[in-house]
Amino acid sequence: MDNITVGLGERSYKIFFGHQVLAETGPLCRDLKMGSRAAVVTNPTVGAHYFEPVRASLAKAGFTVHRIEIPDGEEYKNSETLKGIYDRLIDLGLDRGSYLVALGGGVVGDIAGYAAATYLRGIPFVQVPTTLLAQVDSSVGGKTGINHEKGKNLIGAFYQPGLVMIDVATLDTLPEREYLSGLAEVAKYGIVLDGELFDFIFNNTDKLLGRDTESLLFVIQRSCAIKASVVEKDERETGLRAVLNYGHTVGHAVETLTGYTKYKHGEAVAIGMVAAAKYAESMGLANKSETERIITLLKALRLPVELPEFSVAAYTEALLRDKKVRDGGLNFVFNKGIGGFHFARVTDLSPLLKTGGIGG
Ligand code: NAD
Ligand code: GLY
Repeated sequence: MDNITVGLGERSYKIFFGHQVLAETGPLCRDLKMGSRAAVVTNPTVGAHYFEPVRASLAKAGFTVHRIEIPDGEEYKNSETLKGIYDRLIDLGLDRGSYLVALGGGVVGDIAGYAAATYLRGIPFVQVPTTLLAQVDSSVGGKTGINHEKGKNLIGAFYQPGLVMIDVATLDTLPEREYLSGLAEVAKYGIVLDGELFDFIFNNTDKLLGRDTESLLFVIQRSCAIKASVVEKDERETGLRAVLNYGHTVGHAVETLTGYTKYKHGEAVAIGMVAAAKYAESMGLANKSETERIITLLKALRLPVELPEFSVAAYTEALLRDKKVRDGGLNFVFNKGIGGFHFARVTDLSPLLKTGGIGG
């Protein structure tokens, strides 16, 4: 199985990639001397497909395995569900010789990771991501946490997993819109950090839309390598790591204005990337044909590219509520051509709104 290392000194870990490789989870955890008991956190949707192979692999490797199920949905990434996980861990009597396995998408990964970061002041955990978004983004880099009623991801910790096990075969059962939403994050890496990856996606859209195993393994591995190198340089997002927020500022505004129901996260990010690309062009950071290539790619990936109609005032308010606002200005990530990035502080939002084509 291929693997890459996220190099963070004594907290370094490996990301493994393969097709139908869940059976390798147990031996890899044993190699890491993970303790004797594993609690697999999952939800009913993912658990129905993949709990059994993971359980069997862990059991065969000598671990006692427990199942902790949380409800499916972003609305359950909260303190109540977290408490439910703690309750089960305490009832099961899990001690520091135990570890958690997060089996699911970003919701399961974030909340299980945070439970691992905080239970008994921290026990090891393993990520087994099963959405494309989780495989290329959320399972790598150690951001864990839950939502608060006043905002997303407001409570959390940086806490790195002991390993990440990516089985692309799990994507076979992923609903289409979830899959396309993950492709938006892959495109993001190409647009701001890797022109060759961009070209690969551009030239292989049909294969990617058909979930071709080889193409998927290539883009997932490349995306993880990019994310690993960013995280190695700036684990706690004091600077460079913010590049991963490309398209997310406007994307979050779109999600907020549409009440988190109309768009999947990656769809909103696709819209945000187009707004950022048009703004970048207006600033001379990219030319028209590069902007058009970005839009063509996102459309080919069946992602939305048009900002939904809301007033300039509504967008301005939503944008200024973003976590990246300091002293009334936005720290904004632009693409520089294709494959490069540029950070700039934006105090005047009007060019963004104009170039984004937002209605009056
Ligand atoms: P998700 O975890 O809600 O999964 C989407 C849906 O797909 C769910 O219904 C889930 O049950 C289902 N599903 C998952 N795997 C499946 C499979 N293989 N087959 C069938 N169905 C499957 O959503 P997501 O997009 O994976 O993650 C979004 C979350 O990730 C958000 O909470 C976001 O804040 C977080 N996130 C975290 C980071 C980070 O760095 N920690 C980065 C990006 C996003
Ligand atoms: N998803 C952005 C990050 O991990 O920093």
